[in-house]
Amino acid sequence: MELKEKILTKRAKIGVVGVGYAGLPLAMAFARSGFMVHGIDVDDEMVKELNQGKSHIEDVKDEMVQAAISSGCFRAHSDYQIVSQLDCVILCVPTPLRQTRDPDISYMVDAAKKVKEHLHKDMLIILQSTSYPGTTDELLRVELESEKFQVGKDLFLGFSPERVDPGNLKFTTRNTPKIVGGITPHCTEMAKILYEQVIDTVIPVSSAATAEMVKLLENTFRAVNIGLVNEITIMCDKLGVSVWEVIEAAATKPFGFMPFFPGPGLGGHCIPIDPLYLSWKLKMLNYNARCIELASEVNTQMPEYCVHRMVAVLNQNRKCVNGTKVLIMGLTYKKDVSDVRESPALDIIRLLELGGAQVDYSDPYVSQLRFDEVVKKSVSLSPAKIKGYDLVVMVTDHSSFDYKMIQESAQLVFDTRNVFREAFDTLVKL
Ligand SMILES: NC(=O)c1ccc[n+]([C@@H]2O[C@H](COP(=O)([O-])OP(=O)(O)OC[C@H]3O[C@@H](n4cnc5c(N)ncnc54)[C@H](O)[C@@H]3O)[C@@H](O)[C@H]2O)c1
Repeated sequence: MELKEKILTKRAKIGVVGVGYAGLPLAMAFARSGFMVHGIDVDDEMVKELNQGKSHIEDVKDEMVQAAISSGCFRAHSDYQIVSQLDCVILCVPTPLRQTRDPDISYMVDAAKKVKEHLHKDMLIILQSTSYPGTTDELLRVELESEKFQVGKDLFLGFSPERVDPGNLKFTTRNTPKIVGGITPHCTEMAKILYEQVIDTVIPVSSAATAEMVKLLENTFRAVNIGLVNEITIMCDKLGVSVWEVIEAAATKPFGFMPFFPGPGLGGHCIPIDPLYLSWKLKMLNYNARCIELASEVNTQMPEYCVHRMVAVLNQNRKCVNGTKVLIMGLTYKKDVSDVRESPALDIIRLLELGGAQVDYSDPYVSQLRFDEVVKKSVSLSPAKIKGYDLVVMVTDHSSFDYKMIQESAQLVFDTRNVFREAFDTLVKL
């Protein structure tokens, strides 16, 4: 049976390599619609838990994994043997930065090499990890192609940007439009047919590099606009104007303005990282991506700027950082998720501790976290406990926080997210 027919009749076996924030919801979407899905991940413990019906991602409930397993549509593996039986493989492995802020492509290379060991004819391979334009063609194609397997003839290869927004209940895998771009038109067609089985709108573009660039435009757009509004925040502070009031008023313009909001800095596995994949690639072409570099500089300095403002607030209250007790509300990079990767809260904690502060945190999604040699545990809140801190810093706006209790008990609050809409005596806003 041809690959196309196998996909259309849901007899194609799907592999999702890397079943994390991006991979697991996608694996579940295919399993729910009746495909046999194999999740492949190097994290043995997580593979074991998935096979026991336990999810590690908030957006995928345990019951979803259990239903997929009991309907015979999902199984997780910690090795790649199963690839020899698969028809379609989607790569969702991490694409972080090295310490030098250059792309770390080692996870993609490792996954491609392991897939290659079990490659067979008539397979569709799609990269969903965010990377620089040219990755699918220059890296994956070169890794996978051989005399035996020609892309577009024996193998189909393409790129499809990941658009998952963890915690977003309105836009899920099914109703978030999906871009696909193949190495050849035949590759694009195969990728489009596959995703159309689980996604309402699939938009083909002319090449894999175009699809890669679409993702980087989306994320650079956010990074640059957040950089702009973060700089406007610093300007407003100097001018003695509330940035929040300015944004709210500007957003009443019904055309030509889209509100972005300041914060303590960028976090997560996308916005702080992906634009730097693009600027790195451009450097190789002798071009300096100025907007990206500048936005990155402004955004990276936000934790330091926030701490500078906190020091001023403490000073005004006749307190110094050294020895002061600070409570950080929220450790994760965004509300209602458990992901702490690149979270600005971590930088804020380090900077405050460097100044001699005693810093605790409270986060319902992170029970404990290692900071260098020390393990910190999330503090459970009570009015008396909150009162014991000199400063409470609102970093993440989790829905479950008891804002009324914080407002009524805190000695001093520094709010980086505008969670407190109304002013009160002990409140200072970013
Ligand atoms: N998290 C998001 O909101 C989001 C949004 C858009 C795009 N993305 C992109 O999706 C990709 C994956 O990100 P994520 O957030 O899902 O990461 P993640 O860390 O949650 O998941 C990646 C998984 O891949 C596994 N893995 C690593 N190397 C592997 C290998 N060689 N073989 C098999 N498994 C391997 C890890 O153990 C992990 O479970 C990245 O490129 C990221 O930029 C993520």
